[in-house]
Order: sequence, then C-alpha cells, then structure tokens
Amino acid sequence: MSTQHQKTAIITGASQGIGAALVEGYRKLGHAVVATSRTIAPADDADILTVQGDIADPATAERVVAAAVERFGRIDTVVNNAGIFVAKPFTDYTAEDYAAVTGINLDGFFHLTQQALPHLLTRGGHVVSVTTSLVDSPDSRVPSVLASLTKGGLQAATKSLAIEYATRGIRVNAVSPGTIKTPMHPDETHEFLAALHPVGRMGEVADIVDAVLYLETAPFVTGEILHVDGGMSAGH
Ligand SMILES: NC(=O)c1ccc[n+]([C@@H]2O[C@H](COP(=O)([O-])OP(=O)(O)OC[C@H]3O[C@@H](n4cnc5c(N)ncnc54)[C@H](OP(=O)(O)O)[C@@H]3O)[C@@H](O)[C@H]2O)c1
Repeated sequence: MSTQHQKTAIITGASQGIGAALVEGYRKLGHAVVATSRTIAPADDADILTVQGDIADPATAERVVAAAVERFGRIDTVVNNAGIFVAKPFTDYTAEDYAAVTGINLDGFFHLTQQALPHLLTRGGHVVSVTTSLVDSPDSRVPSVLASLTKGGLQAATKSLAIEYATRGIRVNAVSPGTIKTPMHPDETHEFLAALHPVGRMGEVADIVDAVLYLETAPFVTGEILHVDGGMSAGH
C-alpha cells in the first residue's frame, strides 16, 4: 500500500518496450509508478496507476501529474521515455512526420517535465530522458535528422536543466541507446541493425533499464548523457 513515504516515478511510453520494463524496474526499486501512454491498460499492482493520453498534448501532462499527486501524494522522478523514430532522407520528411516526431519527443518532454518540476522540488528529484546514440554518431545508413533534432534537443536540455537545478536537489540525466530489441524493430531488421554496432549486436531492453536505474541511484551524477550503445558513439 502506498504512502507519502514511498517514492513515485512517472514513466512515459510505458505500454511496451523499454517503458514497460522501466515500470517493472522502478517497482523493484520500491517506487510507486504512474505509467502513461495512449493505450496503456490498467495494472493489477495497486502501486501502479495507469493514465492514458497523447504525451504531445499538454492536457495529458496535467492529468498525469494530478493523478500522481492525488493517488501517491508526491512525485520524485520523471522518466521521459515515450518517443518515435522516423528514418528517412531529409527531403522526404513530411509536415506530418515533423509534427509527430517533435510533438512526442520534444513537446512531451517539455510539458510533463515542466508540470512535474514543482513537485520534484519538494524533496529533490530526478528527471531522466531516453535519447538516441545517433545524436552523437550519425550514420549514413540510417538517415534520421528528426531523431537528431529532437533527441539532440533533449540531450542539450538535459545539461541545461541539470545546471539550472543543480543547487536545488534535482538531478537531470539521459540514457542514449544504440538499437535495442523492442517492438519498434521488426525481427527481419535485426541483422542489419546488429551490424550498425561495433560490438556486432543489438542491445537488450534490460541494458537500458539498468542504465536508467543506475542514474536513479547515483546522487553525484547529473547532466550526464550515458551512452548504452555497443560502442556506436565511440566510433566505427
Ligand atoms: N528501440 C530502440 O532501438 C531505441 C533506440 C534509441 C532510442 N530509443 C528510444 O527509447 C524510447 C522507447 O523506445 P521503444 O523501442 O521501447 O519504443 P516502442 O516499443 O515503439 O514504444 C513506444 C512507447 O511510446 C508510446 N507512445 C508512442 N506515441 C505516443 C504518444 N503520442 N503519446 C504517448 N505515448 C506514446 C507507446 O505507447 P502507445 O502506443 O500506447 O501510445 C509505447 O509505449 C523512445 O524514446 C525511443 O526513441 C529506442
């Protein structure tokens, strides 16, 4: 049963893939979790509250923060995990692609983090975002400017926000993954994707969960962009 003594994490993009595993990871750490996505189903666990909504919509952030405070009485962590990836040559991107990718990847981060921050200030807290290693190591085989535009923005904002709140008990970090085996990537793409990594394989969801939980429990680490990418950002 939750009390105000139990830390609470909000996790976006929590219906599948990395986000769903992060919900389990934070529960194992003992946190209550508010899990959100457009289609997320109710959970059996009384310490997991699910809230449906489009993360690009500021009204979703309002509902998620209000639900967290009403149910668990506090917010300690925001995990900005929801994201989409559209790989196309630059001039093939449509206005719809641009709106969708910036809406979910950037607006989602902005609205939720901004609305949750006053609650994080109460006891100190953590904001952690999931970006992509392509920001720091673009690859000619995967043209994806919109990923770099949005996740690169998140990485820059991570450092900026870390510094703005460094003296007020809020840490801000990011995990920058290589390609991870999730429903985002159909099985038939795995061989091609594995070969993009110096280690010759894709990452597992657990690699990203472990990295987020490390940052969660590392009180001297802030403004860090932790690459979990099989060597991609080191070179090829
Ligand atoms: N997998 C990779 O190789 C990889 C690599 C680098 C970075 N990443 C990043 O890691 C994060 C998680 O990736 P993943 O592979 O686990 O993705 P995924 O399996 O495609 O899951 C995406 C999640 O985001 C939610 N979502 C999508 N659009 C949404 C919207 N408009 N509003 C609210 N929620 C929305 C989805 O739930 P609903 O459909 O229910 O809304 C789902 O829970 C993303 O930010 C992604 O960019 C992934």
